[in-house]
Amino acid sequence: MKKFTKALVALAAAGALMLSGCGTEREGDTGSNGDGGGFEKGALIGVALPQKTSENWVLAEQLFNDGLKDAGYEADVQFANGGVAEQQNQIQAMVTKGAKVIIVGAIDGSQLGTQLQAAKDAGATVIAYDRLVKNTPAVDYYVAFDNFKVGELQGTALLEGLKARKGGDGPWNIELIAGSPDDANSQVFFDGAMSVLQPEIDKGTLVVKSGQTTFQQVSTQGWKAENAQKRMDTIMSSTYSGDTELHGILSPNDTLARAAMTSVKAAGKDLPVVTGQDSEVESVKSIMAGEQYSTIYKDTTALVEHSITMVNNLQEGKTPEINDDESYDNEVKVVPAYLLEPKIVTKETAAEIYKDDKTLGPLTKG
Ligand code: BGC
Repeated sequence: MKKFTKALVALAAAGALMLSGCGTEREGDTGSNGDGGGFEKGALIGVALPQKTSENWVLAEQLFNDGLKDAGYEADVQFANGGVAEQQNQIQAMVTKGAKVIIVGAIDGSQLGTQLQAAKDAGATVIAYDRLVKNTPAVDYYVAFDNFKVGELQGTALLEGLKARKGGDGPWNIELIAGSPDDANSQVFFDGAMSVLQPEIDKGTLVVKSGQTTFQQVSTQGWKAENAQKRMDTIMSSTYSGDTELHGILSPNDTLARAAMTSVKAAGKDLPVVTGQDSEVESVKSIMAGEQYSTIYKDTTALVEHSITMVNNLQEGKTPEINDDESYDNEVKVVPAYLLEPKIVTKETAAEIYKDDKTLGPLTKG
């Protein structure tokens, strides 16, 4: 895994100039899509979302619909609950209807090349949203939270949680869970977490008792709770029978964290330290009740707002701002990215972090 280094925000302007392929930024130069003149207000903007595998996607649907309409566009926001083929058809339909920008949260980041190339050929700009689109030149921008950082924060939280809740210096028994292998984020989350955990595994502070440590062994097809739970059930009976304790679980998100906790409870064991991501309502309640140890706050409102800012820039014929031009190589090109900062949340920090969040803030009050 390449080292993840983030360009300074201050470099964004320089990056934007580089992208526009000329020395000065000109009004009417969209750089990447090359049509040079923006597009009409009121244009159609397509948003292709994946399956509803976590609350953030459901929230994004509403925010894109409202935000794009408020900004004066026609919005076509679609979920692809039926899977990859449905998402391919939806994107193709957006192209046919003349969408000027297509924002994509891919189910399978490697299977949209044909449809996104059709979008490019029709003059649309393609923005990968939250999940990178891979193996295609047909993607102009990426807007997401810093995924590697998410993983680092999860790894750090697991270690700190073990010290705080289980005490001593270890060794602690842990198990690892990763997200769906078709989502480009999953490997990045895992690599970020392992950058913190692997040195401790090497030192013997952490012991992965099942022996399952590769991404392939620990990934969860479709981000489905039942798949993670089934795997954990098997591990609990094969590895944690008798007095053997499980002290910690690296979980990549809240849905899978809750599934893993269900499995451990069913096995009649004490709850381990469990990480998460997304700040889902049920998990925030669990954290406040002292069960799940941590989650990650990725403010979906901010991510959608930034995506719509990019659409506005493109509409005006301007090059959207980026703050990272080196981290997201999709195997064909390095995709210019705008990355937002994720935040780690534990019971101790929840009230402060969610203080401005209308849904989550109240959950942290006594
Ligand atoms: C998102 C996570 C989410 C997961 C499952 C990932 O691509 O970044 O926030 O938990 O998908 O929906």
